[in-house]
Amino acid sequence: MNESPYPPSALAVEYARKYVEYMNIYDVEGLREELIVELEKYTNLPREHIEFFPGSSYILLLMVALAKAQNIEVVLPHPTFHALYPVLRSFNANYAYVKLTQRFELDKQVFLRSAENRLVYLANPNNPTGNLLVEDPSYISKLAQVARYVFVDEAYYEFSGSTVKDLVVEHENVAVLRSLSKAFSLAGARFGYLLAGKRVKEHLNSLRIGFETPIMTQAAALGALRDRKYVEKIVEEVKSTRDYVRRKLLEVGLWSPESRANFILVDLGKPCREAWEKLSEHGILTLCLELVKDLVDYGNYLRVTVGKPDDMNTFLEKILEVL
Ligand SMILES: Cc1ncc(COP(=O)(O)O)c(C=O)c1O
Repeated sequence: MNESPYPPSALAVEYARKYVEYMNIYDVEGLREELIVELEKYTNLPREHIEFFPGSSYILLLMVALAKAQNIEVVLPHPTFHALYPVLRSFNANYAYVKLTQRFELDKQVFLRSAENRLVYLANPNNPTGNLLVEDPSYISKLAQVARYVFVDEAYYEFSGSTVKDLVVEHENVAVLRSLSKAFSLAGARFGYLLAGKRVKEHLNSLRIGFETPIMTQAAALGALRDRKYVEKIVEEVKSTRDYVRRKLLEVGLWSPESRANFILVDLGKPCREAWEKLSEHGILTLCLELVKDLVDYGNYLRVTVGKPDDMNTFLEKILEVL
């Protein structure tokens, strides 16, 4: 996982505390309404396209369940979000990868051909590579015309500034996933939301039991969404630290794809385990792809979440020591 190293907003904490008293209730009607209104404002989409869940991972589970229930093959780029691989296996889902190029770009023609009658998953920006796989929403429209469903995972939207959310109004089979775990620093609260075309939303809802999102989580999300300035400040700081760290890495000859997320992937030119161990001794937690079962082919790559500028300077120092 790849959470924010920044604390949640004070308003999110205050709201969560306030609603602890409502733990005995499944669904606080006023709260749900306020949250939906806030999501409408934030996304500029009407409520018929919006649903919320306990984390965007929950939506990924429903996505795989949908593919299984309708006997549709899943197509996804490789490498991508590592948590998805074991889930696809455990569900015994049918799936196929489209390998990214050496520079982690998506071969759009090949992907489009593979999308036909399938359920497509695309993280944009992608994890663990950090880059945008698709910049032009019209490509997602093309996918939607041939695929059964298109799921675009925008967990890092606030850092990328790039979205295809408006497509859900015209395409009944397009779904966009978002998360408050990253820019909003609410990973532990578990809140994600879906922006979706009518058909895909209905089908996903039919797989739910309902009342999944805890009341305190809803309250924290409401507080966080009402404290937009706090998030904007963090996002600006992270983006500038991220770009600085990447520049420094490139300067010393270490390649790193252009990140539009809150983490950086770097090619160490040798297996990442040693660097990963050294960095963890100094309290710097990274993800070494050599240690991730489904990503071992990319074992020279290390992913680091962008933290405070001082921590990132320590990261740069230690990386150079190890190499
Ligand atoms: C691409 C991507 N999608 C989804 C998630 C899951 O986020 P959440 O905390 O909302 O479940 C992550 C978390 O790392 C992610 O990187």
